[in-house]
Amino acid sequence: MTGFSTIYKLSVVAILSLVQVCACDLSCPVIDCWYMLEKGRSGGLANAANQVKSLLFIKTKEEQHDPQSVNTPPDINDVFFITDPSGSMCHRALNPPEGAIKKPNCELNPFQPEPSSLKWVAPLTDSAQSPLYLQAQWLAATIHGVDKEMSVTSVIRHPTQSERNDVILSVTTKTVYVAARLGEPVLLDCSFWVDPSSPLHGAGFSVEWRYQFRGNGRLVLGYDGKTDRLSKIRDEGATLDFEGLHQKGNASLILAEAKVKQSGTYICSVHVPYILAQVTLELEIVEPPSVSIHPSTLPLMVPGQTLTMLCEASGFAPLSLDFSWEFKDSDGKVRSLGPGSVSGHREGHDGTFSQTSRLDLDSAELQSGRGGELSCVAAHPGGTRQANVNLGVIGFSTPSIEDSMAMVGVALVLYGLIKFVSWTFTGSGEEETDQKKKN
Ligand SMILES: *[C@@H]1O[C@H](CO)[C@@H](O)[C@H](O)[C@H]1NC(C)=O
Repeated sequence: MTGFSTIYKLSVVAILSLVQVCACDLSCPVIDCWYMLEKGRSGGLANAANQVKSLLFIKTKEEQHDPQSVNTPPDINDVFFITDPSGSMCHRALNPPEGAIKKPNCELNPFQPEPSSLKWVAPLTDSAQSPLYLQAQWLAATIHGVDKEMSVTSVIRHPTQSERNDVILSVTTKTVYVAARLGEPVLLDCSFWVDPSSPLHGAGFSVEWRYQFRGNGRLVLGYDGKTDRLSKIRDEGATLDFEGLHQKGNASLILAEAKVKQSGTYICSVHVPYILAQVTLELEIVEPPSVSIHPSTLPLMVPGQTLTMLCEASGFAPLSLDFSWEFKDSDGKVRSLGPGSVSGHREGHDGTFSQTSRLDLDSAELQSGRGGELSCVAAHPGGTRQANVNLGVIGFSTPSIEDSMAMVGVALVLYGLIKFVSWTFTGSGEEETDQKKKN
């Protein structure tokens, strides 16, 4: 009876602890975050003294927070209990297992609500009710998850004389880095969420996609959700999923056909009246090379002779390529012949690159009396490609048994052929003379 009750008690404890695990919302993280105090206005550059270490406790419901249970570690200056009903900040990429080396990168900045400066959108700020609501302390948290899995920027409202920190707007991307092949359609993920209980909800939104490369920026596409209008200036082939945008806040940018010159940084900004949040993505067009060897059929090589061969790798991007030449002899043994002399690159009209490697091949280098297969290997981030040609060598030094047999065979066939031909010709010649004699 005692055994039974122990098992009974143990299982009750087990069930209770399970229930507790489920109730404590495991997936929402506690994030180490740099809190950037107001930037010094003189220098422009933020100095280290303006950053302090803080901890963000994220929950999806206000009542899940338990500030009393938190012991602040000594090196932490500030603790924030943040409520994010959207759950955007509870993604697993922001919550690595304890002890993991890779941690999310987080920055918390003071945020100043202000009317949108976008010229092409209908004013979002004509509702009179907003300003009172705006009288609070505002913060913006930008968090990059581990392994470029996602990034999120959340704008947080902290009403004065309260403990609350509520996420009001969050913008998320699940494609922090996108590698696309040339000519493929590209999806740059971006989605946003506005707190439905906020007066800013339903008061209109706009989405702006910008492109940046080496300091130059431009508008890729802008969309005003209030008037359902696209910006006049926009990239050809760039569009949004308008239904998904209005129904689910899916602000993903669709590019019809990836081009090399579209590689760069993209910024997805979402504006609601007075506040905006943005995330940054990286698009890289990665196209592996096409590889060919010239001449494509090689003459038989005589020992002591040097052959010059060219390997052309074309149509690749980005400009990052490693050539290597290899020779595989008839026994399957592979010898490396080095990279050859690599030319400068040429750029094609579609932005892809070409490069050539020249190999001056001395037959002595092959260390093989017989031929084999010569390969040019081009290693590229988009994949390794290679071209092969057969290389025949006439070997005098050490003919193998097969070579000798072949030679004997050839000699026999030749002998037979000569015999046959001479027999045919002499035969017919005799006939002719016979006929002449008869006449
Ligand atoms: C957003 O829209 C794009 C384009 O229609 C779609 O491919 C993608 O799956 C959508 N994302 C979400 C999270 O629904």
